[in-house]
Amino acid sequence: MSPVKNEVSNADTLTRAAFDYQNQGWCEYRQPFPADLLAEVKQRIEEISRLRQPEVVYEDGSDVARGVHGCHRYDEACAALVRSRILVDLAETLIGSRVYVYQFKANIKAAREGREWPWHQDFAFWLHEDGMPSPDAVTIAINLDEAHESNGPLRVLDGTHRLGVLESVSRKENRTSNWKDDVSSNLSHAVPPELIGGLLADYPMSQFTGLPGTITAFHPCIVHSSSNNHSNDRRSILFVTYNSVDNAPTHATRPDFLVDPDTSPL
Ligand code: SIN
Ligand code: MN
Repeated sequence: MSPVKNEVSNADTLTRAAFDYQNQGWCEYRQPFPADLLAEVKQRIEEISRLRQPEVVYEDGSDVARGVHGCHRYDEACAALVRSRILVDLAETLIGSRVYVYQFKANIKAAREGREWPWHQDFAFWLHEDGMPSPDAVTIAINLDEAHESNGPLRVLDGTHRLGVLESVSRKENRTSNWKDDVSSNLSHAVPPELIGGLLADYPMSQFTGLPGTITAFHPCIVHSSSNNHSNDRRSILFVTYNSVDNAPTHATRPDFLVDPDTSPL
């Protein structure tokens, strides 16, 4: 029997993902995520987003849910998702060590009302707010809804993962006392505005558009953002950040639903 054309083994797919990740700071992982688990998680995120709980964050000045955090700590479906082999294998391959879940969040970006995420690097938050020693972590994004051109898809600047943390020369110590500044549309550790024009000129931009179930992974230092949602379609994306077990933060004081204190390997 001749081999099925275009069939790629999981090992090849992982190798390809690792290659892209190293080169451009992000990769798409072309593996199907179990549809039943994804549907269950999507439903649970919708239910949790309607609860008045501290881990549910709203758009500024509104009661529209912007995101939910840390549900993997108490919800069975979310806990199963972060432990799924497909995600853990990808995270271990990209980081090169055993991993635990550092952060879990779903950013909902409601139709017409979901607000932007300014240009930033995640590692700036983890370094300054939590004392994460080095960027030996990876965020895996799974689309819960389709992300398309008009509903504010994530966009990244290829190659900026090599730049380290970009700070303005006049930067004052701006460690925040309010964790809500780390998850609002007015971010506490945004890339300095004076650097953005040069970055946009020098680094190609990629948009993470794709159907529900699309899996992408991106580096803690890659510069990324997303715009307001101008469309009638919600853009809900799940973000699971895996950290190396050897890279636990030194002064994590933010709430447990933002920085999971359980560093045991998955
Ligand atoms: C993030 O950068 O953490 C999220 C961006 C988005 O949801 O578009
Ligand atoms: Mn981010």
